[in-house]
Amino acid sequence: MKVLLVGATGNLGIRLVAALLTHDHSVVAFVRSPNKLESLLPISVYRQITVVQGDAKDAASIKKAILDADCDAVVNTAGLAALPPWGKSDLPAIFRAVLNAVQDAGSERKRPLRTWFLGGLGVLCFPGSESMLSNYIPIYREHRQNIHLLKSLPPNTNTVDWSMLCPGTMPPESSEVTVPTKLLHGKLIANATTPPLWQDSWMKHIPLIGKLVVCAMNAPRYETTLEQNADLIATDLESHESPWSGRTVGVIDPSK
Ligand SMILES: NC(=O)c1ccc[n+]([C@@H]2O[C@H](COP(=O)([O-])OP(=O)(O)OC[C@H]3O[C@@H](n4cnc5c(N)ncnc54)[C@H](OP(=O)(O)O)[C@@H]3O)[C@@H](O)[C@H]2O)c1
Ligand SMILES: *[C@@H]1O[C@H](CO)[C@@H](O)[C@H](O)[C@H]1NC(C)=O
Repeated sequence: MKVLLVGATGNLGIRLVAALLTHDHSVVAFVRSPNKLESLLPISVYRQITVVQGDAKDAASIKKAILDADCDAVVNTAGLAALPPWGKSDLPAIFRAVLNAVQDAGSERKRPLRTWFLGGLGVLCFPGSESMLSNYIPIYREHRQNIHLLKSLPPNTNTVDWSMLCPGTMPPESSEVTVPTKLLHGKLIANATTPPLWQDSWMKHIPLIGKLVVCAMNAPRYETTLEQNADLIATDLESHESPWSGRTVGVIDPSK
């Protein structure tokens, strides 16, 4: 597919450039600074992509980039959620702009764009309940308003075919970006709505703190690498019908 990658200079962004090229997608990178992107990528990789300069809070320029390049898909990795519950970042404004751009472009070309957004582990639900993990561990809560925005889209609008990847902590495997990628840690296991392979415990029944304790016990198990998550998105975009459409997606590294 032809993919508009918003936020290509970020930790996940540069690895997505490599993963998307490895999976035979065309990449249009939407960044604030083409110079920065050039400095982060090997020249042989930089030459394989198209670069558009713009601000990810500006829906009109994102929409123009989608339509000008005739993209079929969008991946947004721009913006970084604030950690403390009172923290504020640009992520919500970026998220709204990308969503508006994708919807407008989708209605103009009369076909919804396949779109991956990034969330975090905290917007997945505690297995067996509808309550998000971030109700128990209140960090990175800015992702919550983003998922609410997606879930509140009118059901039959059909202007965006979205998924939200919700990883835990993502350290890098390597600081080197190569095409083709070398996946040192293998493929992830994914599941919609709840974290895959969750370890349940009787402790969840302890009043007040039970679920918090179970979340804290499980959370470290969901550390995956940036490269693994980039590969999951690039692999998914190879199929025309994704099992993850309209879902939040949790991931775990089965080799750990
Ligand atoms: N890293 C983790 O462990 C982790 C875990 C779970 C979820 N997440 C989520 O995954 C996403 C990506 O994380 P990351 O670690 O790759 O973040 P990051 O390295 O901080 O990258 C953020 C990117 O956003 C771009 N950006 C910020 N404001 C922009 C604007 N107004 N216009 C255009 N670009 C803008 C930055 O561009 P510049 O280079 O120009 O600054 C940078 O490329 C985030 O939403 C994060 O909350 C991350
Ligand atoms: C995926 O989620 C479903 C429903 O929440 C659950 O029944 C199933 O066991 C989960 N699969 C994995 C691999 O965790």
